Amino acid sequence: RSLFTLAGLAGLALAGCEGVAGNAGSVSFTTPLRIPPVLDPTPDADGVKRYRLRLRQGHSELLPGKSARTWGINGDYLGPTLRARRGDRVAMAVHNTLDEDSTLHWHGMRLPAVMDGGPHQMIRSGATWVPQWTVDQPAATTWYHPHPHGRTAPHVYRGLAGMFLVDDDAAVALPHAYGIDDIPVIIQDKKFTDNGELDEDFGGTYGLLGNQILINGTYGPVFSVTTTRVRFRLLNGSNAHVYTIGFADNRTFHVVASDGGLLGRPAPVRRLRISPGERFEIVAEFAPGEKVLLKSFAGDSDIESGDYDLLKLVTAGKLSPSPALPETLADVAGPVTGAKVRTFRLGGSQINGRKMDIARIDEVVPAGAHEIWVIDNITFAHSFHIHEVAFRVLDIDGRNPPEHLRGPKDTVFVPGKTKVRLAVEFGRHIDPMTPYMYHCHILKHEDRGMMGQFVLVKPGTEDHTPRRLPTTG
Ligand code: C2O
Ligand code: CU
Ligand code: CU
Repeated sequence: RSLFTLAGLAGLALAGCEGVAGNAGSVSFTTPLRIPPVLDPTPDADGVKRYRLRLRQGHSELLPGKSARTWGINGDYLGPTLRARRGDRVAMAVHNTLDEDSTLHWHGMRLPAVMDGGPHQMIRSGATWVPQWTVDQPAATTWYHPHPHGRTAPHVYRGLAGMFLVDDDAAVALPHAYGIDDIPVIIQDKKFTDNGELDEDFGGTYGLLGNQILINGTYGPVFSVTTTRVRFRLLNGSNAHVYTIGFADNRTFHVVASDGGLLGRPAPVRRLRISPGERFEIVAEFAPGEKVLLKSFAGDSDIESGDYDLLKLVTAGKLSPSPALPETLADVAGPVTGAKVRTFRLGGSQINGRKMDIARIDEVVPAGAHEIWVIDNITFAHSFHIHEVAFRVLDIDGRNPPEHLRGPKDTVFVPGKTKVRLAVEFGRHIDPMTPYMYHCHILKHEDRGMMGQFVLVKPGTEDHTPRRLPTTG
């Protein structure tokens, strides 16, 4: 632990140096891509699926031949891929074996606020937290990570994160053989000290911007493609880095899903920007005997700071045929536009001129409401996330969003000096005393207090809902 602190101090010298050049061409891709194991327990006699998760410390070979102190869930770095179907009753036993308190938040799950795993559901060191809920949302790539107030950046950076896949019965012919043609891709940047430990340099406007990128914790990963189409579930699990994903040969690929589930139809792109917290599912096509790099290209914001090689794909001499890409994927109704408009002005690291106060309720929302949230960013880039909801991007500075941003989402990149309007659909879990969060998913900003709280109340009771919570330890 003290070494983490020393590394942080050493990193201060580099603070403010944000134009990292990238790694393109400097990494040889020879390590098989690590695929996190799936955890999908069979239900107990009472019909509940019980998942056991242990937050723990460990050691990982993040750089070849070097050992780094890391954190993980049921392992040394990252966690298993959790899986559940719509309608499943799930119970998580989250045991915190770390020597500090933490939480585990289900990012993208639609569930009661007391189960959300935000800063109000702290898990003390040594304790076990047992949230339980019924999964009730369309198929989607969601994820989980800690959310302790003021400490999210180091906890996620050290390795606490994993995917949580929701399945449903919609019959869509997309590649779905996990680890074969349906591949989790957790993208995280890192900085290393000379002896291969994680360098926790959270200085600068955005906090940590690493010069090495790991995929599922793998340095220099290579994946063997055996089918003509592969679905990649992209998750930007980085503290701050924004990526502009594409293939080295500029081939077109299709976005099939965003944070909250399937798009109406596949959206063809060559470049795909993904900011911290966001997920996109893409389907790419391959021919036999190819070698192609998945990359991130320098973009137009200062958190897409260079060209990075991410993952090498080597295709077999003979590929098994995949089903054709469906023309339509889901019935994505147009956004319902609600009467109520709320504006959130992002300035520096504050929202509407305020920092997070864990005892203050910022917004009181009637359960089941449809509202328009205007994210008005007056300074530098942010990634705006709302817990519990599904939203649609209505427009970006008055212009229609590109096709791949028209599906269900919970996190959106908001470039500097830009206004994004969202049509937000809230859930129905009433609890006037337990808030959900909305915040910037650049973890340094979140930790600095760029976060607010809303509660869902019985419609009509907004005016007499308390705006302060009794402060608890
Ligand atoms: Cu991914 Cu409030 O978090
Ligand atoms: Cu979340
Ligand atoms: Cu931010």
